[in-house]
Amino acid sequence: MKAVVLVGGQGTRLRPLTYTTPKPLLPIANVPFIERQLMWLASHGVTEAVLSLGYLPEAFTEHFSEGYFSGIKLRFVVEDEPLGTAGGIRFAADGIDDRVVVCNGDVLTDLDLTAFVNFHIDRGAEATISLAKVDDPSGFGVVPTHDDGEVIAFIEKPPREQAPTNWINAGTYVLEPEVLDRIPARLNVSIERETFPRMLENPGRLYAVQSDSYWLDIGTPQKFFEAHHDVVAGRLGSPPIAGAIARSPGVWVQSGAVIADDAILTAPVLIGERAIVGSGAVVEDSVLGPGVEVSAESTVRHSVLLTNVFLARGSTVNQKVVAVDVSLACDDSA
Ligand code: GDD
Ligand code: MG
Repeated sequence: MKAVVLVGGQGTRLRPLTYTTPKPLLPIANVPFIERQLMWLASHGVTEAVLSLGYLPEAFTEHFSEGYFSGIKLRFVVEDEPLGTAGGIRFAADGIDDRVVVCNGDVLTDLDLTAFVNFHIDRGAEATISLAKVDDPSGFGVVPTHDDGEVIAFIEKPPREQAPTNWINAGTYVLEPEVLDRIPARLNVSIERETFPRMLENPGRLYAVQSDSYWLDIGTPQKFFEAHHDVVAGRLGSPPIAGAIARSPGVWVQSGAVIADDAILTAPVLIGERAIVGSGAVVEDSVLGPGVEVSAESTVRHSVLLTNVFLARGSTVNQKVVAVDVSLACDDSA
């Protein structure tokens, strides 16, 4: 099966991290997010993926310079200017006339993609949308359905009081070639605001499946942290990263890390490659990236310190995501 992964957006809500690294290449528990997504696609039989790039495209082509990952053959297409979600899919899928799986490049999920595609085939749908349930649907595409899964409406980001259901577009689709054919080429088109609503003019085309699988859009600082927490806590499988060793339940350590005997690590915790945790330091519900140093007597709680962050002696970091290559003396204890 072939997939298109939409990774063209600027990830504005994760600035400043996304000024230099596109959102899908940011790590989640020390693995670039998109690698987690490609491993998930591969586990459901995807063998070819087109990455639909717009923002910082070289970051992807350099990262995947071999053109393969996890057994998936990768192809890269770059939009000169943003074509929107449907325009981006159309452009990326040029030359493909098979059924395709499409995913937003910022959704962490363990959806059973195989069962999802089978549902789509059983219904004879032209397009099928995976749905997730959220408390506040106003930041998403809201998708009420009939009992058999046929979509009643697709309402992108309605005011909260106007959302008819809490089931939202989870950002994973299966599309038949005729859907792609109807998207005008090289124009900015939104699948959420144009393609899906238009399909509803004819019955029997657009279906959706409710799923209670793990699901999270990593695109805000709060959700980015939540993704780390959930992955390290084992909500998407264990270990959270290949090769990590459990030091105690829920406390994972990667190779080359050095941890003082009297440091206190409280799960869920992931200590990255070559990271250092000094004497008397406390690390709780946090992820340290590769080469991070938490000096003696420092405390890190509910935080993510990305690659090579240096934390000065006696610092306290609480509820922060700290960027790459930063030295920090910090007191969040108040
Ligand atoms: N190639 C390309 N071109 N990709 C784009 C473009 C574009 O012009 N614009 C956005 N994307 C990509 C983003 O990189 C991201 O992977 C995906 O499309 C969705 O864009 P977001 O900016 O993250 O949208 P959102 O999170 O506000 O809403 C979307 O996702 C929700 C689920 O997380 C919508 O699809 C909602 O309906 C959905 O509920
Ligand atoms: Mg998003």
